[in-house]
Amino acid sequence: MDFVEQLKSSIDIVKVIGEYVRLERKGATGRYSGLCPFHQEKTPSFSVNQQRQFYKCFGCGVSGDMLKFVMEHDGLTFPETLRFLSDRYGIPMPQRAEFSDAESRMRAALYEMHEIAADSFRDNLRGPIGAEARAYLERRGISQELIDVFGLGFADPSGQALMRRFTERRFSNEQLEASGLVRRRNEGNGHFDAFRGRLMFPIHNETGKVIGFGGRSMREEDQPKYLNSPETPIYKKTTVLYNLHRARDGMRKNQRAVLVEGYMDVIGVYAAGVKEVVASCGTALTNQQVRTLHRHADSVIINFDPDKAGENAAERAIQLLLDEGMHVKVLSLGSAADGAKLDPDEFVKRFGADAYRAKLDSASGYFHWLADRARTKFDMRSAEGKVDALKFLLPAVKNIPDKLERAAVANDLASYLGVDPSMVLDQFKRAATDRKTTSPAPPPRPELPTMERVLLHSLFSSARVRQQILPQLTPELVQGFVSHEILDAFRHVESDDPARIFTEVEGRLSESSRTLLHEALAADHTEEEQEEEFSWTQAVACLERLQADFRKRSVADLKAQVKVAEREGRFGEALALMAEVKQLEELDRAERDQRRRAS
Ligand code: UTP
Ligand code: MN
Repeated sequence: MDFVEQLKSSIDIVKVIGEYVRLERKGATGRYSGLCPFHQEKTPSFSVNQQRQFYKCFGCGVSGDMLKFVMEHDGLTFPETLRFLSDRYGIPMPQRAEFSDAESRMRAALYEMHEIAADSFRDNLRGPIGAEARAYLERRGISQELIDVFGLGFADPSGQALMRRFTERRFSNEQLEASGLVRRRNEGNGHFDAFRGRLMFPIHNETGKVIGFGGRSMREEDQPKYLNSPETPIYKKTTVLYNLHRARDGMRKNQRAVLVEGYMDVIGVYAAGVKEVVASCGTALTNQQVRTLHRHADSVIINFDPDKAGENAAERAIQLLLDEGMHVKVLSLGSAADGAKLDPDEFVKRFGADAYRAKLDSASGYFHWLADRARTKFDMRSAEGKVDALKFLLPAVKNIPDKLERAAVANDLASYLGVDPSMVLDQFKRAATDRKTTSPAPPPRPELPTMERVLLHSLFSSARVRQQILPQLTPELVQGFVSHEILDAFRHVESDDPARIFTEVEGRLSESSRTLLHEALAADHTEEEQEEEFSWTQAVACLERLQADFRKRSVADLKAQVKVAEREGRFGEALALMAEVKQLEELDRAERDQRRRAS
């Protein structure tokens, strides 16, 4: 067994995917379903088949095994995926070098450089050059425990420290420059550290590897306030959420996520005992980040800074989250008695963890927040202002999936705005027709003829079919089969264990055949495995049909050859061919008679 097979047979796909998607068991047959992480959806059409160890989304059509899932989901190469799974599930990988290509070597180098950097920043913070940074953190009320949890550090101001370590490790210039951690000098040779004299916040991917940094200046005159890692092969800003790897357990447990704006806010909120907190790292929230959130929770509480930028960002975030079908609340912390506007971090510091948690628990629905915002944005005394306010609020309302809830909100909305309910309903209808005309067509799927699907099912379910029918499915019989590659793969199966058979077959397939196979098996909505006897009968029927079709094709073929021979004056040959035709037709008749008698 090669390593790939070993991995696949020792790890359960439900466990692997379950780390990314909340899966719910469907019935007793080892099928699970959840929200597809590859496309946006509100009701689960993503299913995982435990027995056959593959996943399939009926919404967007993606399918595959655990390797493909991890590759596509985490954007890893094949060798990286093997390494990831081998580390994660403790299955030792043979001769690591075997599984390496240029791309994954580059990423491995980048991960290593980030690990080195994080260590080095941490050491600096503890050492003599970290005194100013330690004082800064203390001033901001960040304990040693929090420093450790978040892996905070300090970048050596000299601009040489990291570079020196990287040189020792002999990273190539290409790797150095791709890392974003060092920069090339404008003049002369060599590189210098990109982060200097800053407080460093490591940014992790979902599996907990350091992939980038945010570096905060500690003095007003050092601009910008935060210097962030650039995009690199391991850091895609639009997909990463700060603190996700620490937050995801809490998100699942508490069925909610708290979304804040800044690194400092995450730390402050986390310190208040709310661990399910994340932030997008200095970029506007994206669809992909929203989907990531949805994989772990259904509900999000947005708690952004109470300034103009924060409010605009919250407005955008609400829409994105609603589009994804999530429940959304907004917490605005307002102002302190002295008029200071409070971000989450400052609120926790001033009023304590309990006060903050109470605020979170009593956060109100996004709709109130938006309505308040509409009131300040538009002149509610004028008719025009009311229409504008309505238009402003409409997108948020029309996405409420539940009809009754939508109607109730429409009513609220009308009375809130002081407009006639019919005006709101009228707008709803218009929005609904817009929605109909813009909904995208479902993606096309490969078609598998019924006969082929039936055969595949029978092959999986019955050893007798594999032993007795399969050898009779000769190449000329299955000519033109969409699934011919799958049938060929079956000819190599050695095992008798259903789950192993699947792995063995699947392992031999090209990408498109693999999809086809998943398609065929997933389309089987009968939850139980087919009975052996039933499979046998079906397979026999298929075989007979194929043989009959083949005879028919041969007869037509021969007749055409007879014609050609006659035309070209090869009469002897024509006669011989005609005899053959006759023989075939008789055989066909006999077979059909026999079948009629049998049934
Ligand atoms: P904030 O200015 O609110 O920062 O920006 P903060 O994290 O709350 O930090 P403190 O409390 O002022 O020290 C919010 C987030 O926006 C990004 C960072 O991710 C920051 O955490 N940002 C901000 C930048 O990327 N660059 C900047 O210059 C400023
Ligand atoms: Mn702040």
